[in-house]
Amino acid sequence: MKIIVSLFLFSIFNVTGCNVDQKKVSQKQTETETVLSKNILIVYLSRTNNTETVAKIIQKQVGGDLVELELVNPYPENYQAIVQQVDKENEDGFLPELKTKINDLENYDTVFLGFPTWDMQMPPPMKSFLSNNDLSGKTVIPFNTNAGYGVGSSFRTVEELCPNSTILEGYSTKGGIERDGILFVMEGEKLIEVKNQVATWLEKIGF
Ligand SMILES: Cc1cc2nc3c(=O)[nH]c(=O)nc-3n(C[C@H](O)[C@H](O)[C@H](O)COP(=O)(O)O)c2cc1C
Repeated sequence: MKIIVSLFLFSIFNVTGCNVDQKKVSQKQTETETVLSKNILIVYLSRTNNTETVAKIIQKQVGGDLVELELVNPYPENYQAIVQQVDKENEDGFLPELKTKINDLENYDTVFLGFPTWDMQMPPPMKSFLSNNDLSGKTVIPFNTNAGYGVGSSFRTVEELCPNSTILEGYSTKGGIERDGILFVMEGEKLIEVKNQVATWLEKIGF
């Protein structure tokens, strides 16, 4: 009987002790997540939601605030029309006006920048964002989706437009091929693949 009682007490003590420890750990995790969330900004541009999906995966893993870039004058829906307009904007160095304004940029020390490849470059609206917002002293991390032709000059442009930032290794994956009518691809196997790749990449760069 003595043995049974002490076993019973031992198991209660153990279970309770374990719960307390777990509580402490999860409380600590929540505190850490809150601190991280306060400092991370995820800014992205996305027309057919592939880059947006990557942005949301990143946010789920690191926390932070998610902001989509919107234009005062949105681009045309038609693919040929937007291609022509973007070509011209790149030729002229035109920077479209953004509707999105970030008033409390000083509160963030880490900024993820997400954009599709357009014309083998960084899309003009992201160039506008980086020209209007000084990211000096911050850690800047680019991510990208494209039709399979890669990031082009876009990641180099991040370095050029953020000369006083610490730029970490970016992430890029194949997204839609709007030219061929393939718009949103971030579902099923592809979504699982991207979630895994993003987790590995974030860990590699220190998150
Ligand atoms: C105007 C325009 C130009 C594009 N130019 C390229 C390009 O030069 N190279 C490339 O690989 N994909 C190009 N794409 C395809 C996009 O990069 C690809 O579909 C991307 O996944 C779209 O991301 P989103 O769904 O977040 O908008 C272009 C798409 C558009 C709309």
